[in-house]
Amino acid sequence: MKNTQTRRKSKGYVPHKAAAEFQPTMDWSVEEAKDLFSGKIFTFEVDKIFYSDCIEGMQDLPSESINMVIADPPFGLNFGEMETLYNRDSDLVAEGYHDVKLDNYTEFTEKWISELPRLLKLDAGVWIFSGWTNLVDILNSLKRNKLKLINHIIWKYQFGVFTKRKFVTSHYHLLFAVKNEKEYFFNKIEHYPQDVWEVNREYDRGVEKNATKLPPEVVHKCFDFGSRPGDLVLDPFMGNGTTATVAKSSFRHFLGFEVNLKLQDIIEKNIANAELGSNYIPYSDKPDELVRKARERFGKK
Ligand SMILES: C[S@@+](CC[C@H](N)C(=O)[O-])C[C@H]1O[C@@H](n2cnc3c(N)ncnc32)[C@H](O)[C@@H]1O
Repeated sequence: MKNTQTRRKSKGYVPHKAAAEFQPTMDWSVEEAKDLFSGKIFTFEVDKIFYSDCIEGMQDLPSESINMVIADPPFGLNFGEMETLYNRDSDLVAEGYHDVKLDNYTEFTEKWISELPRLLKLDAGVWIFSGWTNLVDILNSLKRNKLKLINHIIWKYQFGVFTKRKFVTSHYHLLFAVKNEKEYFFNKIEHYPQDVWEVNREYDRGVEKNATKLPPEVVHKCFDFGSRPGDLVLDPFMGNGTTATVAKSSFRHFLGFEVNLKLQDIIEKNIANAELGSNYIPYSDKPDELVRKARERFGKK
């Protein structure tokens, strides 16, 4: 039996050639991205956070208006547990974190997920973060609401809470689901994009924030693969406003909800501090590691 290398060679296979030649499915220069952002016309107000319950609030949004949803819902843990998980200095955690009691979690999940299909454009995608304890509720609601799961991503972060009699949880689930399996938007910006993402959590010292802030890098990755400049991204659970700041700094529009009024100042300050388009870099200008190395090997730029 021939080994794989001989077989591949005989078919003209050149290792790393495809990686060296890789181009993202779609790409835009800074000027193009900016034009797409400012040229987008909406018949309703965008780039706005509603400080209210998302389940009721989403009912007032127009049908087929949203290109992408990013949702990081409360986990159904008691806040006491969340506090040790996310920020050791409770003086810097904004009060009023709104969690959902575990026995209502199934109902709560079904309520907010069932609002999504009407709001989504035909090619829209939904990106939902979840811990493992309530994952089953989210998976069941996606299925019940005919949102088709495309990828189940594991986001691995650097460390979790110390344990004595069980493994340390150091990952989250990130579910990528779509309305229409045949026509969804996915920009393949990496040659070999894998479903395990290693992104460190941030521990900002001395900055007041909501207890469960996502690192902008992980949100940015969802934006890169799941949206175009000018798209409208909805986040029903804004927290610190991470989705809004990532949207603004990468030429995307946003809408969001946050029920905790104590977060309003933090969110509005974060949005005001984010500079329009400041994090936008065309994908061809930032090739992934694999592509960069392959290009070096082939003497390409
Ligand atoms: C896990 S945190 C989101 C953190 C956010 N992704 C970030 O990076 O800062 C969930 C947020 O949802 C809010 N929340 C809970 N129930 C809500 C509801 N029904 N409507 C709107 N916001 C809600 C909580 O107050 C909390 O700030």
